[in-house]
Amino acid sequence: MADAPLTLPSDANASGRSFGEEELELLRQVIASGTLNCTRGTQVIEFEKRFARYLDMPHCRAVTSGTAAIHTAVAAVDPEPGDEIIGTPITDIGAITPILYQSAIPVFADVDPKTYNVTAATLAKKITRRTKAVIVTHLFGNACDMDPIVALCKDKGLPLIEDCAQAYGTTYKGRHVGTFGDIGVFSLQQGKHMTTGEGGMVVTRDAALARRMVLFSDKAWGYGDPKPDHYFLALNYRMTELAGAVALAQLGKLDNMIAARVRTAARMDKALAGLRGVEIPFVPPNVRHTYWKYCVRVDPSVIRGGADALGAKLKAAGVFCVPRYIQKPAFECEVLRDRVTFGKSQFPWVGDHRKGEPEIVYDAKETPGTTEALAHVVVLPWNERYEDKHVDFVADVVRRAAGELSA
Ligand SMILES: Cc1ncc(COP(=O)(O)O)c(C=O)c1O
Repeated sequence: MADAPLTLPSDANASGRSFGEEELELLRQVIASGTLNCTRGTQVIEFEKRFARYLDMPHCRAVTSGTAAIHTAVAAVDPEPGDEIIGTPITDIGAITPILYQSAIPVFADVDPKTYNVTAATLAKKITRRTKAVIVTHLFGNACDMDPIVALCKDKGLPLIEDCAQAYGTTYKGRHVGTFGDIGVFSLQQGKHMTTGEGGMVVTRDAALARRMVLFSDKAWGYGDPKPDHYFLALNYRMTELAGAVALAQLGKLDNMIAARVRTAARMDKALAGLRGVEIPFVPPNVRHTYWKYCVRVDPSVIRGGADALGAKLKAAGVFCVPRYIQKPAFECEVLRDRVTFGKSQFPWVGDHRKGEPEIVYDAKETPGTTEALAHVVVLPWNERYEDKHVDFVADVVRRAAGELSA
């Protein structure tokens, strides 16, 4: 049992990240070459090839962030103004705002409070004649139940985007998430399983989607075409060679970094087993969870003050956890609640393109699973540099706090 407070490795700095000579060597090569731009360089192209191979997918495009990757994916499915795209209310806002930039309206399916993920049943309830695509998020590194989701999207003819920003190495029935739908999306932001500080990727099996995504992330300029032009509205989301070099080195370490998270999470499961009022993560039998974060579910009928009280005690003991994760469903953020988008227009919720359609209203009463999930979750910090002593320390703090708060 650990008693003295420990400083936990943090993913905000070197203590919780895995950078070293491999990154430095490739960065040296980039600087020495003088080519920092991917259109002339070699690192980003090589990274795209190797990440595609890692997932056994034919196409990967590297971009500047997870948000840019979501935007690129949404642009590839090319919604008409006022179309609807269904996703989860428990995610980073960067997975939602790109929908608005593409003139489509985010619509929210409920989550299963046990897994924090959307399901085929909750998605199905939100499908309308204006639905253009579905985005599922494999939250915290746990996979959505993909078979029924894929079947639903196939049946309705809806493109399926998988947000794997938090789910590197996560598998469902032995297969990587990000390979079930039409497009898989990843983030390389500082805190992810592998990182370049900022960055992201999209992967697909579909050559036409791949082509659109390459174009969208590069001003839609038809490089190499007989008569190139800027074919459609698009942005510059090209990854730099500097980020590409770091991404390439990180990819070489990814399996070990994931294995470390999984191993320490298993130790944590054991350490917390049987603790009244604090449930360890639920992992469906056909899923490999890769623990972007380790989340516990707090039962307020046992733990006085629930997630907030437990979280406060953990923080006081040096475990910088996040009770309630994003605090409220994404649709209660001002940008969505007050429709703060383009001037005063409230576009794309309002306008002729929505004439005759029912108004999109966000109401927390329609997502009781989300309310329950957020109310009970405490997100524990986690990274690949945790050693047994860190796990034991966190587990000890959780046990002690739960004991003190137990009814
Ligand atoms: C599930 C999910 N999707 C998308 C994003 C956006 O990625 P980024 O921060 O790289 O823009 C994040 C957060 O980083 C995320 O956790």
